[in-house]
Amino acid sequence: PPLSEVLNLHDFEAVARQVMPEKAWAYYSSAADDEITIRENHAAYHRIWFRPRIMRNVTTVDWSTTILGHRSSMPLYITATALGKLGHPDGELNLTRAAAKHGVIQMIPTLASCSFDEIVDAAQPGQVQFFQLYVNKDREITKRIVQHAEKRGIKGLFITVDAPQLGRREKDMRMKFEADDPSEVKKAGSDGVDRSQGAARAISSFIDPGLNWDDLKWFKSITKMPLILKGVQCWEDALEAYDAGLAGVVLSNHGGRQLDFARSGIEILVEVVRELGERRGLKFPNEKFQLFVDGGVRRATDVLKAVALGATAVGVGRPFLYAFSSYGFEGVDKALQILHDEFEMNLRLLGAPTIKDVVPEMVDASNLGIH
Ligand code: FNR
Repeated sequence: PPLSEVLNLHDFEAVARQVMPEKAWAYYSSAADDEITIRENHAAYHRIWFRPRIMRNVTTVDWSTTILGHRSSMPLYITATALGKLGHPDGELNLTRAAAKHGVIQMIPTLASCSFDEIVDAAQPGQVQFFQLYVNKDREITKRIVQHAEKRGIKGLFITVDAPQLGRREKDMRMKFEADDPSEVKKAGSDGVDRSQGAARAISSFIDPGLNWDDLKWFKSITKMPLILKGVQCWEDALEAYDAGLAGVVLSNHGGRQLDFARSGIEILVEVVRELGERRGLKFPNEKFQLFVDGGVRRATDVLKAVALGATAVGVGRPFLYAFSSYGFEGVDKALQILHDEFEMNLRLLGAPTIKDVVPEMVDASNLGIH
Protein backbone atom coordinates (compact mmCIF):
# COMPACT_ATOMS: atom_id res chain seq x y z
CA PRO A 1 0.00 0.00 0.00
CA PRO A 2 1.21 3.55 -0.67
CA LEU A 3 2.67 5.41 2.30
CA SER A 4 -0.15 7.95 2.08
CA GLU A 5 -2.55 5.26 3.33
CA VAL A 6 -0.60 4.80 6.55
CA LEU A 7 -2.43 6.77 9.23
CA ASN A 8 -0.88 5.58 12.48
CA LEU A 9 1.99 3.50 13.87
CA HIS A 10 -0.06 0.31 14.01
CA ASP A 11 -0.48 0.48 10.23
CA PHE A 12 3.26 0.06 9.72
CA GLU A 13 3.11 -3.28 11.51
CA ALA A 14 0.27 -4.49 9.30
CA VAL A 15 2.16 -3.50 6.15
CA ALA A 16 5.46 -4.97 7.38
CA ARG A 17 3.84 -8.30 8.07
CA GLN A 18 2.82 -8.50 4.41
CA VAL A 19 5.97 -7.23 2.78
CA MET A 20 8.84 -8.33 5.01
CA PRO A 21 10.84 -11.51 4.43
CA GLU A 22 9.61 -14.18 6.81
CA LYS A 23 12.88 -14.44 8.68
CA ALA A 24 13.12 -10.72 9.33
CA TRP A 25 9.48 -10.53 10.39
CA ALA A 26 10.09 -13.40 12.81
CA TYR A 27 13.08 -11.65 14.39
CA TYR A 28 11.47 -8.23 14.72
CA SER A 29 8.00 -9.26 15.81
CA SER A 30 8.80 -12.16 18.09
CA ALA A 31 8.71 -12.03 21.86
CA ALA A 32 9.35 -14.49 24.68
CA ASP A 33 7.47 -17.74 25.29
CA ASP A 34 3.71 -17.24 25.04
CA GLU A 35 4.08 -13.54 24.20
CA ILE A 36 1.92 -12.42 27.10
CA THR A 37 4.23 -9.58 28.11
CA ILE A 38 4.40 -8.11 24.61
CA ARG A 39 0.61 -8.09 24.50
CA GLU A 40 0.33 -6.42 27.90
CA ASN A 41 2.98 -3.81 27.05
CA HIS A 42 0.51 -2.06 24.82
CA ALA A 43 -2.63 -3.20 26.63
CA ALA A 44 -1.46 -1.58 29.88
CA TYR A 45 -1.84 1.84 28.25
CA HIS A 46 -5.49 1.00 27.58
CA ARG A 47 -6.11 0.94 31.32
CA ILE A 48 -5.07 4.56 31.80
CA TRP A 49 -7.59 7.32 31.14
CA PHE A 50 -7.21 11.05 30.75
CA ARG A 51 -8.62 13.85 32.87
CA PRO A 52 -8.26 16.73 30.40
CA ARG A 53 -8.55 20.38 31.39
CA ILE A 54 -10.48 22.98 29.43
CA MET A 55 -10.22 26.71 28.70
CA ARG A 56 -6.43 26.73 28.83
CA ASN A 57 -5.55 28.74 25.71
CA VAL A 58 -3.97 26.10 23.55
CA THR A 59 -3.53 28.29 20.48
CA THR A 60 0.11 27.34 20.43
CA VAL A 61 1.34 24.12 21.96
CA ASP A 62 4.92 22.90 22.39
CA TRP A 63 5.80 19.25 22.95
CA SER A 64 9.58 19.62 22.88
CA THR A 65 11.61 18.66 25.94
CA THR A 66 15.13 17.82 27.09
CA ILE A 67 16.51 14.31 27.58
CA LEU A 68 19.70 14.01 29.68
CA GLY A 69 20.12 17.72 29.07
CA HIS A 70 19.73 17.51 25.29
CA ARG A 71 16.98 19.07 23.25
CA SER A 72 14.43 16.70 21.76
CA SER A 73 11.51 17.77 19.60
CA MET A 74 9.29 15.23 21.39
CA PRO A 75 9.42 13.32 24.68
CA LEU A 76 10.50 10.15 22.91
CA TYR A 77 13.61 8.59 21.43
CA ILE A 78 14.31 5.83 18.95
CA THR A 79 15.40 2.92 21.12
CA ALA A 80 18.06 0.36 20.26
CA THR A 81 16.97 -2.57 18.13
CA ALA A 82 19.48 -5.00 16.67
CA LEU A 83 19.96 -6.11 13.06
CA GLY A 84 18.49 -3.26 11.07
CA LYS A 85 19.60 -4.70 7.75
CA LEU A 86 17.28 -7.66 8.15
CA GLY A 87 14.50 -5.22 7.29
CA HIS A 88 16.15 -2.82 4.84
CA PRO A 89 19.55 -2.52 3.10
CA ASP A 90 20.26 0.85 4.76
CA GLY A 91 19.46 -0.62 8.20
CA GLU A 92 19.97 1.77 11.11
CA LEU A 93 20.92 4.66 8.81
CA ASN A 94 17.23 5.07 8.02
CA LEU A 95 16.76 5.91 11.70
CA THR A 96 19.75 8.24 11.87
CA ARG A 97 18.51 10.31 8.93
CA ALA A 98 14.93 10.52 10.14
CA ALA A 99 16.11 11.36 13.67
CA ALA A 100 18.15 14.24 12.23
CA LYS A 101 15.22 15.59 10.24
CA HIS A 102 12.87 15.51 13.22
CA GLY A 103 15.23 16.50 16.02
CA VAL A 104 14.87 13.29 17.99
CA ILE A 105 17.55 11.14 19.59
CA GLN A 106 18.59 7.73 18.30
CA MET A 107 20.02 5.05 20.57
CA ILE A 108 22.57 3.02 18.62
CA PRO A 109 22.55 -0.70 19.46
CA THR A 110 25.68 -2.77 20.13
CA LEU A 111 24.34 -5.26 17.61
CA ALA A 112 23.58 -2.82 14.81
CA SER A 113 23.95 -4.19 11.28
CA CYS A 114 25.74 -1.05 10.15
CA SER A 115 29.00 -0.40 11.92
CA PHE A 116 28.98 1.98 14.86
CA ASP A 117 31.18 4.48 13.04
CA GLU A 118 29.02 4.37 9.96
CA ILE A 119 26.00 5.33 12.06
CA VAL A 120 27.86 8.11 13.85
CA ASP A 121 29.27 9.39 10.57
CA ALA A 122 25.75 9.53 9.11
CA ALA A 123 24.63 11.96 11.82
CA GLN A 124 24.35 15.69 11.17
CA PRO A 125 26.66 18.07 13.07
CA GLY A 126 25.27 18.44 16.57
CA GLN A 127 22.88 15.51 16.25
CA VAL A 128 22.66 13.71 19.59
CA GLN A 129 23.03 9.94 19.73
CA PHE A 130 23.01 7.50 22.65
CA PHE A 131 24.59 4.06 22.74
CA GLN A 132 23.11 0.80 24.00
CA LEU A 133 25.72 -1.52 25.47
CA TYR A 134 25.69 -5.27 25.80
CA VAL A 135 28.48 -6.01 28.24
CA ASN A 136 30.98 -8.48 26.85
CA LYS A 137 32.49 -11.22 29.02
CA ASP A 138 35.82 -9.78 27.88
CA ARG A 139 35.89 -6.45 29.70
CA GLU A 140 38.75 -5.18 27.55
CA ILE A 141 36.43 -5.37 24.55
CA THR A 142 33.73 -3.57 26.51
CA LYS A 143 36.17 -0.89 27.60
CA ARG A 144 37.31 -0.33 24.04
CA ILE A 145 33.71 -0.05 22.78
CA VAL A 146 32.70 2.36 25.56
CA GLN A 147 35.70 4.64 25.22
CA HIS A 148 35.35 4.70 21.47
CA ALA A 149 31.69 5.66 21.82
CA GLU A 150 32.61 8.50 24.17
CA LYS A 151 35.33 9.70 21.83
CA ARG A 152 32.83 9.75 18.97
CA GLY A 153 30.56 12.06 20.96
CA ILE A 154 27.90 9.67 22.28
CA LYS A 155 25.88 11.46 24.97
CA GLY A 156 24.55 8.60 27.07
CA LEU A 157 25.47 4.98 27.75
CA PHE A 158 22.48 2.68 28.18
CA ILE A 159 23.65 -0.60 29.67
CA THR A 160 21.21 -3.41 28.98
CA VAL A 161 20.64 -5.32 32.21
CA ASP A 162 17.67 -7.53 31.39
CA ALA A 163 19.43 -9.97 29.09
CA PRO A 164 21.96 -12.15 30.96
CA GLN A 165 20.59 -14.81 28.66
CA LEU A 166 18.41 -14.18 25.64
CA GLY A 167 14.75 -15.06 26.07
CA ARG A 168 13.11 -17.80 24.00
CA ARG A 169 11.56 -16.18 20.98
CA GLU A 170 10.04 -19.23 19.43
CA LYS A 171 8.87 -17.58 16.24
CA ASP A 172 12.47 -16.56 15.64
CA MET A 173 13.92 -19.88 16.77
CA ARG A 174 11.92 -21.72 14.14
CA MET A 175 13.87 -19.81 11.51
CA LYS A 176 17.42 -21.01 11.12
CA PHE A 177 19.65 -17.97 11.10
CA GLU A 178 22.14 -18.11 8.29
CA ALA A 179 23.16 -14.54 7.89
CA ASP A 180 23.09 -13.70 4.21
CA ASP A 181 24.88 -10.59 5.34
CA PRO A 182 27.99 -11.85 7.15
CA SER A 183 28.40 -8.57 9.03
CA GLU A 184 25.49 -9.57 11.20
CA VAL A 185 27.20 -12.45 12.90
CA LYS A 186 30.75 -11.20 12.76
CA LYS A 187 29.92 -8.35 15.10
CA ALA A 188 28.91 -10.63 17.90
CA GLY A 189 32.60 -11.09 18.50
CA SER A 190 32.29 -14.66 19.61
CA ASP A 191 33.23 -18.12 18.50
CA GLY A 192 30.95 -21.10 18.73
CA VAL A 193 28.02 -19.14 17.39
CA ASP A 194 24.97 -21.39 17.17
CA ARG A 195 23.13 -20.50 14.02
CA SER A 196 20.51 -23.20 14.31
CA GLN A 197 18.09 -21.38 16.62
CA GLY A 198 17.24 -18.03 15.17
CA ALA A 199 18.91 -14.67 14.87
CA ALA A 200 18.72 -13.73 18.54
CA ARG A 201 20.61 -16.77 19.77
CA ALA A 202 23.18 -16.53 17.01
CA ILE A 203 24.33 -13.05 17.94
CA SER A 204 24.09 -12.96 21.71
CA SER A 205 26.42 -15.57 23.13
CA PHE A 206 29.07 -12.99 24.13
CA ILE A 207 26.83 -11.23 26.68
CA ASP A 208 28.11 -11.55 30.26
CA PRO A 209 25.63 -13.06 32.74
CA GLY A 210 28.10 -12.17 35.48
CA LEU A 211 27.31 -8.45 35.22
CA ASN A 212 26.44 -7.09 38.68
CA TRP A 213 26.19 -3.92 40.80
CA ASP A 214 29.91 -3.93 41.62
CA ASP A 215 30.68 -3.41 37.94
CA LEU A 216 29.22 0.11 38.05
CA LYS A 217 32.31 1.51 39.77
CA TRP A 218 34.39 0.18 36.91
CA PHE A 219 32.08 1.73 34.33
CA LYS A 220 32.39 5.07 36.10
CA SER A 221 36.16 4.75 36.03
CA ILE A 222 36.31 4.21 32.27
CA THR A 223 33.80 6.83 31.04
CA LYS A 224 32.31 10.21 31.82
CA MET A 225 29.19 9.54 29.78
CA PRO A 226 25.96 9.51 31.80
CA LEU A 227 25.16 5.90 32.73
CA ILE A 228 21.64 4.55 32.47
CA LEU A 229 20.47 0.99 33.16
CA LYS A 230 18.11 -0.32 30.50
CA GLY A 231 15.73 -3.02 31.66
CA VAL A 232 14.97 -2.14 35.30
CA GLN A 233 11.75 -3.84 36.41
CA CYS A 234 11.00 -2.94 40.01
CA TRP A 235 11.46 -0.01 42.41
CA GLU A 236 14.13 -1.81 44.44
CA ASP A 237 16.51 -1.84 41.49
CA ALA A 238 15.61 1.71 40.48
CA LEU A 239 16.49 2.80 44.02
CA GLU A 240 19.80 0.93 43.87
CA ALA A 241 20.59 2.66 40.57
CA TYR A 242 19.77 6.03 42.08
CA ASP A 243 21.90 5.38 45.15
CA ALA A 244 24.74 4.28 42.86
CA GLY A 245 24.70 7.76 41.34
CA LEU A 246 23.49 6.79 37.87
CA ALA A 247 21.81 9.28 35.54
CA GLY A 248 18.64 7.26 35.13
CA VAL A 249 16.93 3.98 34.33
CA VAL A 250 14.82 2.62 31.51
CA LEU A 251 11.83 0.78 32.91
CA SER A 252 11.49 -1.89 30.29
CA ASN A 253 10.99 -5.57 29.64
CA HIS A 254 12.90 -5.47 26.35
CA GLY A 255 9.77 -5.31 24.25
CA GLY A 256 8.49 -8.53 25.82
CA ARG A 257 11.45 -10.45 24.43
CA GLN A 258 13.03 -11.56 27.71
CA LEU A 259 11.07 -12.77 30.76
CA ASP A 260 7.50 -13.52 29.79
CA PHE A 261 5.09 -12.19 32.47
CA ALA A 262 7.44 -9.33 33.23
CA ARG A 263 5.28 -6.25 33.84
CA SER A 264 4.90 -3.39 31.42
CA GLY A 265 7.15 -0.36 31.81
CA ILE A 266 4.24 1.96 32.51
CA GLU A 267 3.14 -0.19 35.48
CA ILE A 268 6.69 -0.23 36.85
CA LEU A 269 6.84 3.55 36.46
CA VAL A 270 3.97 4.10 38.87
CA GLU A 271 5.62 2.11 41.66
CA VAL A 272 9.08 3.59 41.04
CA VAL A 273 7.75 7.16 41.25
CA ARG A 274 5.89 6.36 44.45
CA GLU A 275 8.69 4.50 46.24
CA LEU A 276 11.56 6.81 45.25
CA GLY A 277 9.34 9.71 46.23
CA GLU A 278 8.71 8.22 49.65
CA ARG A 279 12.21 6.91 50.29
CA ARG A 280 14.39 9.63 48.74
CA GLY A 281 12.05 12.58 48.45
CA LEU A 282 12.41 12.60 44.66
CA LYS A 283 9.91 14.28 42.37
CA PHE A 284 9.47 13.17 38.76
CA PRO A 285 10.21 14.08 36.06
CA ASN A 286 13.60 14.69 37.62
CA GLU A 287 16.62 16.27 35.96
CA LYS A 288 19.24 14.43 38.01
CA PHE A 289 17.71 10.96 37.87
CA GLN A 290 15.63 10.45 34.78
CA LEU A 291 13.03 7.76 34.29
CA PHE A 292 12.44 6.33 30.84
CA VAL A 293 9.88 3.77 29.79
CA ASP A 294 9.67 1.60 26.71
CA GLY A 295 7.50 -1.18 25.32
CA GLY A 296 4.23 -0.99 23.44
CA VAL A 297 4.24 2.77 22.84
CA ARG A 298 2.28 3.34 19.62
CA ARG A 299 0.50 6.68 20.05
CA ALA A 300 1.34 10.13 21.37
CA THR A 301 -1.36 9.48 23.95
CA ASP A 302 0.73 6.57 25.27
CA VAL A 303 3.74 8.89 25.55
CA LEU A 304 1.71 11.57 27.31
CA LYS A 305 0.44 9.06 29.86
CA ALA A 306 4.02 8.10 30.70
CA VAL A 307 5.06 11.75 30.89
CA ALA A 308 2.12 12.57 33.15
CA LEU A 309 3.17 9.75 35.47
CA GLY A 310 6.77 11.02 35.74
CA ALA A 311 8.76 9.74 32.76
CA THR A 312 11.19 12.12 31.08
CA ALA A 313 10.72 10.37 27.76
CA VAL A 314 9.79 7.00 26.28
CA GLY A 315 11.55 4.69 23.85
CA VAL A 316 9.89 3.42 20.70
CA GLY A 317 11.27 0.33 18.95
CA ARG A 318 9.31 -1.89 16.58
CA PRO A 319 7.19 0.79 14.88
CA PHE A 320 10.31 2.34 13.38
CA LEU A 321 11.66 -1.06 12.32
CA TYR A 322 8.39 -1.83 10.58
CA ALA A 323 8.39 1.63 9.03
CA PHE A 324 11.81 1.31 7.38
CA SER A 325 11.29 -2.33 6.48
CA SER A 326 8.24 -1.29 4.49
CA TYR A 327 9.20 2.15 3.18
CA GLY A 328 12.85 2.87 4.03
CA PHE A 329 13.71 6.35 5.29
CA GLU A 330 10.36 7.76 4.14
CA GLY A 331 8.61 5.32 6.43
CA VAL A 332 10.45 6.49 9.55
CA ASP A 333 10.02 10.09 8.46
CA LYS A 334 6.27 9.51 8.18
CA ALA A 335 6.12 7.70 11.53
CA LEU A 336 7.74 10.66 13.26
CA GLN A 337 5.47 13.09 11.41
CA ILE A 338 2.43 11.11 12.57
CA LEU A 339 3.63 11.32 16.17
CA HIS A 340 4.34 15.03 15.75
CA ASP A 341 0.74 15.62 14.58
CA GLU A 342 -0.64 13.43 17.36
CA PHE A 343 1.29 15.42 20.00
CA GLU A 344 -0.02 18.70 18.71
CA MET A 345 -3.63 17.61 18.71
CA ASN A 346 -3.53 15.70 21.98
CA LEU A 347 -1.83 18.48 23.94
CA ARG A 348 -4.63 20.79 22.77
CA LEU A 349 -7.31 18.31 23.74
CA LEU A 350 -5.64 17.71 27.10
CA GLY A 351 -5.44 21.42 27.82
CA ALA A 352 -1.67 21.28 28.25
CA PRO A 353 0.21 23.97 26.28
CA THR A 354 3.60 22.41 27.07
CA ILE A 355 5.01 19.10 28.26
CA LYS A 356 5.47 20.62 31.74
CA ASP A 357 1.70 21.06 31.91
CA VAL A 358 1.17 17.31 31.52
CA VAL A 359 0.84 16.53 35.23
CA PRO A 360 -0.19 13.44 37.21
CA GLU A 361 -3.66 14.87 37.76
CA MET A 362 -4.27 14.58 34.02
CA VAL A 363 -4.43 10.80 34.14
CA ASP A 364 -6.44 8.26 36.04
CA ALA A 365 -4.16 5.25 36.44
CA SER A 366 -6.23 3.59 39.16
CA ASN A 367 -7.14 0.73 36.82
CA LEU A 368 -3.51 -0.37 36.79
CA GLY A 369 -4.22 -1.72 40.25
CA ILE A 370 -0.70 -1.08 41.54
CA HIS A 371 -0.08 -2.34 45.07
C1 FNR B 1 15.11 -5.01 20.69
N1 FNR B 1 15.52 -4.48 21.92
C2 FNR B 1 16.86 -4.44 22.21
N2 FNR B 1 17.28 -3.90 23.39
C3 FNR B 1 18.59 -3.84 23.69
O1 FNR B 1 18.93 -3.34 24.75
N3 FNR B 1 19.52 -4.32 22.81
C4 FNR B 1 19.18 -4.86 21.62
O2 FNR B 1 20.03 -5.30 20.84
C5 FNR B 1 17.80 -4.95 21.30
N4 FNR B 1 17.41 -5.50 20.13
C6 FNR B 1 16.08 -5.51 19.79
C7 FNR B 1 15.70 -6.04 18.57
C8 FNR B 1 14.36 -6.02 18.20
C9 FNR B 1 13.98 -6.56 16.87
C10 FNR B 1 13.39 -5.49 19.07
C11 FNR B 1 11.94 -5.47 18.69
C12 FNR B 1 13.77 -5.01 20.30
C13 FNR B 1 14.54 -3.93 22.88
C14 FNR B 1 14.22 -2.48 22.58
O3 FNR B 1 15.29 -1.64 22.89
C15 FNR B 1 13.01 -1.99 23.41
O4 FNR B 1 13.18 -2.32 24.75
C16 FNR B 1 11.70 -2.54 22.87
O5 FNR B 1 11.76 -2.74 21.50
C17 FNR B 1 10.57 -1.58 23.18
O6 FNR B 1 9.37 -2.15 22.80
P1 FNR B 1 8.60 -1.82 21.42
O7 FNR B 1 8.60 -0.33 21.21
O8 FNR B 1 9.32 -2.56 20.36
O9 FNR B 1 7.23 -2.36 21.69
